Amino acid sequence: MLIDGSKVAAGLAAANALAPTGPIGLGQALADPESKLRRPGFNLAFKSLEEETFLPRIAQDGKLPKWLTGTLLRNGPALFEIGEEKFNHWFDGLAMLHAFSFAGGKVSYRNRFLRSSQYWAWKKEGRIKFSELATDPAPDPCRQIFSGVSTLPVLGRVPNANVTIEKLAGEFRAHTEIPIPVRFNPKFLNTLGIEDGAEMQGRLGTAHPHFDPETGERFSYEVELVPPSGLRIVSEKGAKRRELAFIPQSSPGYLHSFGLTRRFVVIVSQPFNFNLAKFLSPDRGPIITNYEWQPEEPTRIILVDRRRGGVVRTVETDAFFAFHHINAYEQDGKVIVDVCAHKDAGVIDALYLKKIRSGSKVPQAKYRRFEIRLSNGKMTQRDLIDAYIELPQKNYDRVNGKHYRYAYGVGLKKGSSGFIDQLVKADVKKGESRVWRERGVYPGEPVFVPRPGAKTEDDGVILSVALDGIRRRSALLVLDARDMEEIARAWVPHHIPFGFHGLYSRRT
Ligand code: CO
Repeated sequence: MLIDGSKVAAGLAAANALAPTGPIGLGQALADPESKLRRPGFNLAFKSLEEETFLPRIAQDGKLPKWLTGTLLRNGPALFEIGEEKFNHWFDGLAMLHAFSFAGGKVSYRNRFLRSSQYWAWKKEGRIKFSELATDPAPDPCRQIFSGVSTLPVLGRVPNANVTIEKLAGEFRAHTEIPIPVRFNPKFLNTLGIEDGAEMQGRLGTAHPHFDPETGERFSYEVELVPPSGLRIVSEKGAKRRELAFIPQSSPGYLHSFGLTRRFVVIVSQPFNFNLAKFLSPDRGPIITNYEWQPEEPTRIILVDRRRGGVVRTVETDAFFAFHHINAYEQDGKVIVDVCAHKDAGVIDALYLKKIRSGSKVPQAKYRRFEIRLSNGKMTQRDLIDAYIELPQKNYDRVNGKHYRYAYGVGLKKGSSGFIDQLVKADVKKGESRVWRERGVYPGEPVFVPRPGAKTEDDGVILSVALDGIRRRSALLVLDARDMEEIARAWVPHHIPFGFHGLYSRRT
């Protein structure tokens, strides 16, 4: 790993020079003409960040807890065009990894692009060469003339894994919705590569696997798009892999995450269905354009037995759409399933870069609870809090798959217009929420970090990378998870494009 010393020094100087010195949130906005706008500085949220940097110490307001000694790793898109060619969707930009490391009350920052096949196409050929979810490469004129039809997606060997980060058996892996993880070094963020022999095979996977620390099992799924098409639920323990169920689906629904209880894998299968005929036709378009929202069909909640395998129960409800499960658990003969519920799949459409950048409103999700009685399959549903919630997180090691009280997420203040403008803490016991917000600041996914030795579920901090649109740079927010009050803020000297998911690791 080479570190350009002069760049580091310059970066640090810039960070210090640019860092606000007064109390947080006072005054600075007044001189900025953009601050009068509805969403000041929002254009930076989806503006490319090309530079890779290492800043051994970044400027900081407030005091970090002494026990916070580890690294927040983040993943998300950071390059939205290559030359004249543009990626169409937020989900498509080139993956960049970010690391905020804490030691001795100080914070360092590093970022690096994931070395995917698409990354090397940028660097070596200066073009978009591979298909992403909502972007296809420009048609190859020679091929067009000879075949007369558009070709199938062109996939890179190393996927542009820009969605999540998983730590498994001491290894760090970046994921997208292709079941080929990309390993990287958490300290230097250099890409280590994919498994030998890993190969794209017409199937999708999940960027949100689950891990049960009590049993050592990892759970995931695979979606087979070509016949025999369907959904496969998989558990792995070390090198041992088991297929728990295969659910045949003629038009597999789009799926992003799932829930895990002590006994069940919980799938929420929604009628956003893959149309293989369209996909194989000349006017197919990028892969996501071949999914169709079919609201006359139900959304199904499917319970798969974790130990014995097989589907235990399937219940149906009116169509709704979800990217994210918040939690699931069993209680008194019932299975409780909490998700971020969208009215329909329109949210995917709203996240095309053209639309988000133009300031159109992004549909929001409700914190919805489904309770399924195991004996008879009867199901009830209700919304647990009034606030919207997305990119949900919780005290995972302590409460995943178990009775719980708190979850954290991002949201949009009701009545405000836009994208994401607040952090939310949900107390599902009381049905209340608490928010953190500041004008012109757009926070990202809140990662909960428990305090060592914590007795209560919310004893810890929230880490969220937020874009300060008024100061035109990003910062790491550190909030006390108990009351959502800000403890500290560490500044990078540039903006960080809006990302998806990350994790905190005490050891890297
Ligand atoms: Co996600």
